[in-house]
Amino acid sequence: MLWLKAFHIVAVVCWFAGLFYLPRLFVYHVDTPDAAGRERFATMERKLYRGIMTPSLLATVILGGWLLVEGWPYYATQGWMHAKLFLAVLLIGYHHACGVYRRQLAEERCCRSGRFFRVFNELPVLMLVAIVVLVVVRPF
Ligand code: HEM
Repeated sequence: MLWLKAFHIVAVVCWFAGLFYLPRLFVYHVDTPDAAGRERFATMERKLYRGIMTPSLLATVILGGWLLVEGWPYYATQGWMHAKLFLAVLLIGYHHACGVYRRQLAEERCCRSGRFFRVFNELPVLMLVAIVVLVVVRPF
């Protein structure tokens, strides 16, 4: 159980590194005037998304699901765990939205501004704070 939890947290940290950095790359990408520069950003974004973020998401969900099975049926009765799982699903939706914007930018058909991506970039911060408070403080 402790080993699973340790590697679940490692996977979460790797996933969040990408969730924080990819939308920041989008900000620089949309503000880059030359085609060669945008091409370079598209390559960085593809490698980060496919090579780090998606494998980390899968590891987080698999290890988290495993922890859930190990602790069943206790977690089924815990409000904080229901709330955490709801936020985890929202985070997977955010990950998917990152993938959609990544593809649009790579194909030069994204019409979002740098300002939009700056605000978009703040969402995972709120999710991280909420999930960590839920699992550590267990307020309900
Ligand atoms: C589908 C996704 C996920 C599932 C099924 C899942 C499930 C779990 C379970 C069952 C535990 C053990 C709880 C305990 O008794 O301590 C746990 C621990 C933890 N999870 Fe997740 N989790 C998921 C995603 C996430 C995400 C996205 C984050 C961070 C933003 C996260 C952060 C943590 C942390 C920090 C702990 C350690 C809590 C502690 O014991 O101190 N998890 N997770």
